[in-house]
Amino acid sequence: MSSIVCHPIIKNGIATDARIKKQRPPPLVVARPRDLIQEACERLVLSDQQLRRIMVLMEKSMEQGLSGKKAAVKMLPTYVDAVPNGTEKGDFLALDLGGTNFRVLHIKLEGKETKMTGKIFRVPESIMRGTGEALFDHIADCMAKFMEENNLKDATKLPLGFTFSFPCEQDGLTRGKLVTWTKGFKASGVEGSDVVTLLRDACHRRKDIDIDVVALLNDTVGTLMACAFQENTCQIGVIVGTGTNACYMERLDRIPKLAGYVDEHNVTPEEMIINTEWGAFGDDGALSFLRTKWDDAVDRESINPGQHLYEKMISGMYMGECARVVLEDLAKQGLLFGGHSDAISTPHCFPTKFVSEIDSDLLEDDDRTFQKTYQILEDIGVEMITANDCANVAYVCSLISTRAAHLTAAGIAMLLNRINKKHVTVGVDGSVYRFHPTYPTLLDAKIAELIVGDIEYKLMLSEDGSGRGAALVAAVATRLKEEKLAAAATASER
Ligand code: GLC
Repeated sequence: MSSIVCHPIIKNGIATDARIKKQRPPPLVVARPRDLIQEACERLVLSDQQLRRIMVLMEKSMEQGLSGKKAAVKMLPTYVDAVPNGTEKGDFLALDLGGTNFRVLHIKLEGKETKMTGKIFRVPESIMRGTGEALFDHIADCMAKFMEENNLKDATKLPLGFTFSFPCEQDGLTRGKLVTWTKGFKASGVEGSDVVTLLRDACHRRKDIDIDVVALLNDTVGTLMACAFQENTCQIGVIVGTGTNACYMERLDRIPKLAGYVDEHNVTPEEMIINTEWGAFGDDGALSFLRTKWDDAVDRESINPGQHLYEKMISGMYMGECARVVLEDLAKQGLLFGGHSDAISTPHCFPTKFVSEIDSDLLEDDDRTFQKTYQILEDIGVEMITANDCANVAYVCSLISTRAAHLTAAGIAMLLNRINKKHVTVGVDGSVYRFHPTYPTLLDAKIAELIVGDIEYKLMLSEDGSGRGAALVAAVATRLKEEKLAAAATASER
């Protein structure tokens, strides 16, 4: 039988945090092996064997992507084949679009120093899901405002790095067609089009700003570059935020779809950063062996069903919703909230920050009073909350976040094994990595278990890869362009 002994803590009366404190719940359900909740949630716990299987399947999908065949993991070439050498300097503009906010930044690189000024603008949902023209007009409008406020309008055209954190099929550093929208965006007429052209057109429409886009990049690439600037062993960039994705330095001889590629200097680079777009791993069914009915529910209700299934089991846009559908199901089965599921049934009423807050109850609250958990449940309108409910909700949240960390660990460990270098730094950024209380530790511990041989790695929090990284890619591109012009001038003097 279940270990759930109900001591209702009734709202509107005696129920207070103090009462919760006195009424200490029994030890966490997780300690009771035969508990019904534990049994119901069994599939959320991934074994190392399952994680190793994920690693094999993901690498297979990656190889398909690299070969140019139809693949769930797209493996998009970024045309970034050099990391900063530390001499980059100058003034740059960076645009950063990848979630609910859009940022415009003015960045000065001076040796290892970076000075940044910037402004954050919201991207209203109506614009995320309106027309592409309106989206890019909004971007151009925000840029114009920023340049006006910072007296940059009359400055000579600054080189601009555009961090556009969606899958783009690039055929050069300054061009890229959006493959498909992710993370809740759905602006019409953008998929299949070159986003740099759309941005330029929007600037031309308003006539008062001019831009010189020297680099289009994904946020993972910015993250890798920003870390590589400080730590030259950085070979992998990972984001675990609203979405999740990774890029890494791949040898050109392992990218069949780029066979015969030469850059504008007529040189075949030894390596290139590949944007994996691992969020779409599993879209071909590869993850069916461990996806649950709850993952199906989250996917079904999303704006892009059937797409980005790995991302939907990991990232901040979905983690809270995933926990919510599990809780709703458990309530319906009579295992939570005295069988009342109404309050928890409202889609998106349980954002990922609740998972973080509840997980920190588990971490910080030695007495297991679950005050934050109680408060959250009360705020969303759950009516009969027992101490055991709080413990069980916390248990479910910890399962969801642990699963997310372990799934990400499988991806990172696979990349580390594939790169197979002795020392590798992994640059990581994103709100889940930054703000979830246990995610970074769980991630690190599981990577250590899954790597093979004598690889040594370290995870490094990337300081604003999307902004600084964009300036760095722009700076490297500008430096290479100047070097090329200088070489051409010398050649013509001869
Ligand atoms: C989504 C996007 C990807 C981005 C990631 C993190 O997965 O498709 O391009 O890097 O989110 O922001």
